Amino acid sequence: MDVQAPGVPRLPPRFLVKIVLGLRRALLWLANALVPPQLPLFELATGVSKTQMLSTAARLRIADLLAAGPLDAAALAAHTRRDPDAVQRMMRALANVGVFTVRKDGRFANNRMSAALRSGRVGTFRDFADYFGSASNVGAWADFDRTLQSGKNAFERVHGMSVWDWFDRHPEERTVFAAAMGSMTTLDAPGVARAYPFGEVSRLCDVAGSRGALLAEVLAQHPHLRGVLFDNAGVIAGAHEVLSARDVADRVELSSGSFFERVPEGCDAYLLKNILHDWDDSRSVTILQNCRRAMRPGHRLLVVELLVERDDPNGIGPLSDVQMMMVCNEGRERSRADFARLFRSAGFELRRVVPTATLMSIVEGVAT
Ligand SMILES: C[S@@+](CC[C@H](N)C(=O)[O-])C[C@H]1O[C@@H](n2cnc3c(N)ncnc32)[C@H](O)[C@@H]1O
Repeated sequence: MDVQAPGVPRLPPRFLVKIVLGLRRALLWLANALVPPQLPLFELATGVSKTQMLSTAARLRIADLLAAGPLDAAALAAHTRRDPDAVQRMMRALANVGVFTVRKDGRFANNRMSAALRSGRVGTFRDFADYFGSASNVGAWADFDRTLQSGKNAFERVHGMSVWDWFDRHPEERTVFAAAMGSMTTLDAPGVARAYPFGEVSRLCDVAGSRGALLAEVLAQHPHLRGVLFDNAGVIAGAHEVLSARDVADRVELSSGSFFERVPEGCDAYLLKNILHDWDDSRSVTILQNCRRAMRPGHRLLVVELLVERDDPNGIGPLSDVQMMMVCNEGRERSRADFARLFRSAGFELRRVVPTATLMSIVEGVAT
């Protein structure tokens, strides 16, 4: 049965994805090898300007404004109430790095990259770009060296509270972050739902499942399944819309609370996607122990994460890893061996790693 959400791109087989990513790496290496190293270093050193321009263009919905056709900087400036010369220079610089194009008549238009910033599209990158350039995230990154000295996350040091408490006090940022996660998860979800034998599960709890993008996809693909969606109350409040859009709301129980206190009981599988990478080992073990307390022996734990081996610099894992180090609670991306160790400390045995069609893997544990 083909129930994949409309608009979610079909992914090629995993081996092809690996070949394409390897080819891209080789071409990027070649592009840098052709020029003096100062050029790629200049492009890297000016990363902060790209973060800010991309984020601001996303926040100002420039890609949406260009959806009806090309516009010049004066028109974009009028729509966004910004300075025309500054808008022209930002758009030219973004076109320089491949986002938007400049036509011969000087007007700006969307291209393949900028179209991915358009609102309302499955997998839109708009919210992620918006979030990444937010003052709270960028402010934390400005304090990088002190994290290098201490190993402690910068967000709490700079802002005086954890990123999660920050979201509680800044609901507009939480909404952008949840939308960014939801968008990325919507792209990963079909691969996860297809890769794992969910036919062997009857009731699935998505622990800290945000607004339910992954649970909705898994339930849509597996009609026998019922689900429990668990997250902070403020996040759960936005879940009904996501679940209804996939027509699974009547099979999902909503539950709010903190996974440091409890996790809902009564499910035979517990899913945690992109959760443990937010936390250091000790707090990850506490989360897993709370899951274990809700489970019976033989029940399954499904941890969906990027697997990152210690000496492998490839893929998006190493960059995601430093983001977790800076902003989350001494979080990190982990290897298979790291998960095996965490699982053992919390009463699980790592049974296998199930690859998916995307970069995410499903690390399966069994309650012992
Ligand atoms: C990185 S997001 C991942 C969301 C979702 N699993 C996904 O992959 O789309 C982390 C989630 O953890 C939730 N969270 C953070 N602290 C929590 C806590 N103490 N109890 C329950 N959920 C929490 C956040 O609200 C957020 O939805």
